[in-house]
Amino acid sequence: RKDVGILAVDIYVPPACVQQDSLETYDGASKGKYTIGLGQDCMSFCSEVEDVISMSLTVVTSLLGKYKIDPRQIGRLEVGSETVIDKSKSIKTFLMQIFEECGNTDVEGVDSTNACYGGTAALFNCVNWVESNSWDGRYGLVVCTDSAVYAEGPARPTGGAASIAMLIGPNAPIVFESKYRGTHMSHVYDFYKPDLASEYPVVDGKLSQTCYLMALDLCYSRFCSKFEKYEGRQFSLSDADYVVFHSPYNKLVQKSFARLYFNDFTRNCSWIEKEAREKLEPFSSLSADESYQSRDLEKASQLVAKHLYDQKIQPSTLLPKQVGNMYTASIYAALISVLHNKHSSLAGQRIVMFSYGSGLTSTMFSLKVNDGQHPFSLSNIAAILDVSHKLESRHVVAPEKFVETLKLMEHRYGAKDFVTSGDADLLPPGTFYLTHVDSLYRRFYVRK
Ligand code: ACO
Repeated sequence: RKDVGILAVDIYVPPACVQQDSLETYDGASKGKYTIGLGQDCMSFCSEVEDVISMSLTVVTSLLGKYKIDPRQIGRLEVGSETVIDKSKSIKTFLMQIFEECGNTDVEGVDSTNACYGGTAALFNCVNWVESNSWDGRYGLVVCTDSAVYAEGPARPTGGAASIAMLIGPNAPIVFESKYRGTHMSHVYDFYKPDLASEYPVVDGKLSQTCYLMALDLCYSRFCSKFEKYEGRQFSLSDADYVVFHSPYNKLVQKSFARLYFNDFTRNCSWIEKEAREKLEPFSSLSADESYQSRDLEKASQLVAKHLYDQKIQPSTLLPKQVGNMYTASIYAALISVLHNKHSSLAGQRIVMFSYGSGLTSTMFSLKVNDGQHPFSLSNIAAILDVSHKLESRHVVAPEKFVETLKLMEHRYGAKDFVTSGDADLLPPGTFYLTHVDSLYRRFYVRK
C-alpha cells in the first residue's frame, strides 16, 4: 500500500455565529480582549435544532455525495468527539443509518474520546487499518464532530462548533509519514467534564495553556528523535513548510509556534539567524519551568518568529479564527484552511501537525502532500470545500441570542420528551436537524 492518507475532506459549520467584538461589548470585557488578546474573530454555535449527531450526518452525506462514493465502499468508520450525548451508544451508530440504507453494515470502528484528541485517535485507527493486514481494500472514514460550549466566564469566547469528515485510503494526496510520530500522554486535571449533568467542562485555563506548551515541547523532541533516527540528520522547522496546531484560540497558536522556534534555538539549529540568536541568548539559561512562566521570553520569541509565523502558520488560521474552537475538529479545520489557501502550491511540501487533548493526550505527526488524482486532487478538494462561501453564508446573530440559545441547551441537556422548534430556516438544503426527543430519550432527525 502506497501513500496512505487523506483522499478527501469536507467540513460542515453551523450557520449561526456571533462576532467576537460584539461579545466583548456584551460581556463588558475590555475592547480587544477576545479579538487581539485571544486572537479570535467570530464563533459558530449550534442552534437548538442542531447537535454533534446532526452535524456529522450532514457532513458524511455531503462528502459521500460530492465525491460520488458509494456507502458500500466504506469498510471502517471512526468518530472522534468529546461532546457527550449518550454514555454508551456511539455517534458512529447514528451514522450507520446512511450505510444501512445501502445494505452495508460491515463497517468497523466506534467513537474515540479524550477532549480534543479523539479525532486524531480516530484518524490513526483508520490509517493504521489501511496499512495493516486486516484491511479489506475499502475506504476508511473519519468524523470529527464537536460543539464547544463553556459556562459564563472567561472561557466562553473560546467556544465553537463544526463537523469534519475525512476519507482515508492509499494513493492519497495528503500522505502520512507514519514513521515520524512523537507522543506525550499524562494524567492532568487541566480541562475535564466530571459533571455528567452538564455539557460544560471544568477548566483551569492557565494550567491548560502551560500543559499544552509542555506537551508541545515533549512531542517535538520525540518527533525530532524519530526523524533523526530514520533520516540520519537533524530535523528543524526549516523541514516543515507548514505547522498546523490544535487551536483552542489563535493566541495559543502564536505562542506555540514561538515556542517551537525557541526549541530550535536551544537545539542549535543552524537555520536560526545571528540576530534572532542574540535576542534569545538571554533566555538560554532558564530552566524549563522558568521558561514557561517567562513573559519576556514569550514576547522575544514571538517577535523573532513573526516572519516565519506569517509564512508557515498564518495560512492555517482562517477557520479556527472564524469558527472558534471546534475541539476534535479544530486541528483538521486548520489543515483545511491550508488546503483552501495554498492548494495550488502544496505539492511536495510537508505539513507538521500538533494534536492536543486536555487531560492529557498529544501527538506530533507529519503529512507529505502531492497533487493527487481526480477526484482526489488538491484543486478538487479545495473546490468542494468551498470554504469562503461556507464562511460568508453564515448568519451573524446578536450576543443576546447566543446566550439565550446556550440557556435553552442547558435545560435540554440530558432531557427527554421534548420537541424542538423545527426552525430550519437558516440551514442550507441537505442539512440534517433534530425534530424531537421521545420519552425514551430517542432522538429523531430529518433532512432539509
Ligand atoms: N486588548 C488586547 N489584549 C488583551 C486585552 C485587551 N483589551 N485584554 C486582555 N488581553 C490579552 C491578555 O494579555 C492575554 O494575552 P497574553 O496571554 O498574551 O497575555 C489574553 O488577552 C487573554 O487574557 P487573560 O486575562 O489571560 O484571559 P482569561 O484568563 O480571562 O481567559 C483563557 C483566557 C484562560 C484562555 C480562557 O479563555 C479559557 O480558560 N479558555 C478555555 C481553555 C483552553 O482553551 N485551553 C487551551 C487548551 S485545551 C482545549 O483545547 C480546551
